[in-house]
Amino acid sequence: MPPVIHIDHLNFAYAETPVLTDIHLTIESNDFIGIIGPNGGGKTTLLKLLMGFLKPSSGKIEILGSPPQSSRHQIAYVPQTHRYDREFPISVLEVVLAGRLSRLPWYGKFSSADKEAAKEALNRVKLPNFHNKPFGTLSGGQAQRALIARALISDPQLLLLDEPTAHVDSQAEADIYDILDSLRQKMTILMVTHDLNTAIEQVRQVLLVQNTALLLKPEEVCEHFAMGLYHSPLIQLKREIQ
Ligand SMILES: Nc1ncnc2c1ncn2[C@@H]1O[C@H](COP(=O)(O)OP(=O)(O)OP(=O)(O)O)[C@@H](O)[C@H]1O
Ligand SMILES: [Mg+2]
Repeated sequence: MPPVIHIDHLNFAYAETPVLTDIHLTIESNDFIGIIGPNGGGKTTLLKLLMGFLKPSSGKIEILGSPPQSSRHQIAYVPQTHRYDREFPISVLEVVLAGRLSRLPWYGKFSSADKEAAKEALNRVKLPNFHNKPFGTLSGGQAQRALIARALISDPQLLLLDEPTAHVDSQAEADIYDILDSLRQKMTILMVTHDLNTAIEQVRQVLLVQNTALLLKPEEVCEHFAMGLYHSPLIQLKREIQ
């Protein structure tokens, strides 16, 4: 069984600006990884590379042994969201069904089984009876959970979440962590977060992304964070501890 993620010698630049440099990473199935790092460090860029939306400048990425483009159906993505993303007039059910767009038949109609699966996914994220509500009327935490439901109905092996707990209150955050906890036996989860303390309590490994990337056990992060991780370049830290 190939690892879920295998990255070798990865470099990536937007135009001339290098964003990720010499990344090596192997992640096995059912791991739960918290991705942390400063604004602009390259976290979202890394997720986009994993999905094949961006191509490496050099180096190799494999998802379940294949290039990202051919494994995309195994990956689900909960993007970084902003309030204005929710002004589009669409029901919660339609948002969730969008997670099955790639399976839509040529005549473009979702089956009743698809709709049942969407309602079931809404139950899993504790939003029963929300399917007919306009998406724009949901609270931040409810909207985030609906987006997780959308990711779940594609039955992914790899779930990528970009700051799922940003802009939600502590109850919504706890609910989201409960949901992720119930999924971790079934899939590999990578979650970007700025909430270092909560992340450390929840995840199995922490990936620091700041131009380069370093995988650490949660207990090691505390130590390195105390050393002023965000202030000294990570590459230097990487040299010191290797
Ligand atoms: N489409 C783009 N074109 C050019 N530069 C980009 C593009 N997207 C991101 N960047 C730059 O690449 C760097 C990494 O951005 P990225 O969005 O990956 O950071 P991030 O770690 O997700 O940050 P944040 O915590 O703010 O979400 C930043 O300097 C950003 O300005
Ligand atoms: Mg980002």
